Amino acid sequence: MTGIPPLLLDRASGTPLSVQLADALRAAAAGGTLRPGDRLPSTRELAGALRVSRTVTAAAYDQLLAEGWAGGRRGVGTFVLGAAPSSPPAAALPPRAGPAVPELVDLRAGSPCLEVLDRSVWRRAWRAAGDLPPDASADAAGDPAFRRAVGEHLLRHRGLGAGPDDVLATGGTSAAVAEVAGVLPPGSRVAVEDPGYQRVTGALRAAGAQVVPVPVDDDGLVVDALPADLAAVYCTPAHQYPLGRRMSAARRQELVARARAEGWWVLEDDYDGELRYDVAPLPLLGALGPDVVVHLGTTSKILSPTLGVGWLVAPAALRAELLARRTATGTRPARAGQRVLAALASSGDLARHLRRLRRELAGRREEVRAAVAAAGAVAEGDPAGAHVLVPLPDVAVEDAVLAAAGRQGVALDGLGRHHLDGTAGRRAGLVLGFAAPTRAELHRVLPVLSSVLVEHA
Ligand SMILES: Cc1ncc(COP(=O)(O)O)c(C=O)c1O
Repeated sequence: MTGIPPLLLDRASGTPLSVQLADALRAAAAGGTLRPGDRLPSTRELAGALRVSRTVTAAAYDQLLAEGWAGGRRGVGTFVLGAAPSSPPAAALPPRAGPAVPELVDLRAGSPCLEVLDRSVWRRAWRAAGDLPPDASADAAGDPAFRRAVGEHLLRHRGLGAGPDDVLATGGTSAAVAEVAGVLPPGSRVAVEDPGYQRVTGALRAAGAQVVPVPVDDDGLVVDALPADLAAVYCTPAHQYPLGRRMSAARRQELVARARAEGWWVLEDDYDGELRYDVAPLPLLGALGPDVVVHLGTTSKILSPTLGVGWLVAPAALRAELLARRTATGTRPARAGQRVLAALASSGDLARHLRRLRRELAGRREEVRAAVAAAGAVAEGDPAGAHVLVPLPDVAVEDAVLAAAGRQGVALDGLGRHHLDGTAGRRAGLVLGFAAPTRAELHRVLPVLSSVLVEHA
């Protein structure tokens, strides 16, 4: 969901609140505060935030849907379709009659590919998890069967030899980063890739860390650009998010060497490391520097964020600090998702799913690359994961492409949103995700993507 801009409603005015709200949201879309593809809060959430009844928010959304400023689908949400900043004022737009607003197809990065997640496999794993008796006490490190399954998974798919005792269950990558930041001295400086994963930046800041942006090039995070006095460095070496390259072997060595020399942690976010379609992956940082690396994995990309589960492999002393903090604060990752993952792993369904997922995503990636090439543009990034990068000449072109695609029911993701606030000389481009839609939806919108690129890029 998008952070909604401040919306002021005047309860003393004679204008109905729903009309005021629709006006304010329209103005935000026209002014660029809300951008095409941004997801709006649910009518219930927005009503709660504004302290108005849900009838008010529902009426405002209905009006915006009818006018074509927003699009949506039950169960998926309401999205800004938007209009170029040069559009006529919304009040001058006649309500749009005729064909319904097109369904929004999401080509932004970050979602898992649910279409290939076999529902009967999913149900079977949840049933198996439910067959286990409940425990009377919490295990702050995580379910033993889960930690065993993760150890085997890491060995088989990532070449990392980690026993169950080396593994802590987590609530996912961002939650794990926040936990690690929580045991650093207050105000610690943590370097992050720029462009990079903004949720981790948010998690670090919320945990009281000072975030230091560091540039990325085709070899990954620029180790030479790391300043002194750091407590940790966060990076995505297997598949830089969002630029899509892997960190070179030389950079990996340099990073680990500096971490050792300067005494900081390397946080290795291996969010889609299982999804590589060509050569064998390079050794994990966690294997090169087990004494200084916190290796982080997640089920959010290979299965679904529904599980709310990830894992962390770290040196014993840090694990002990994290466990002490969990115990002292009563925080611990939920066991249900851990049990489901363990059931998927022990039945062999996880390995089968991963094979299927890799095949599917590799195929989609080729289709996306072809659609981009047909428009005379280039899709960059390694053959891995579920997104590619399409560089664009400048930010104005990026805005125009996002807006034009939004008007045609395709939510695209600009590179801008992946930079830290105010990054000077930021690059422009599209971060094109291809996991979220169904294959049929993807086929339907790739020609739209090509034509938008031809027209605006
Ligand atoms: C770079 C990156 N890291 C990690 C994640 C997953 O995070 P979490 O496990 O917190 O859901 C994502 C998901 O979009 C991601 O893009």
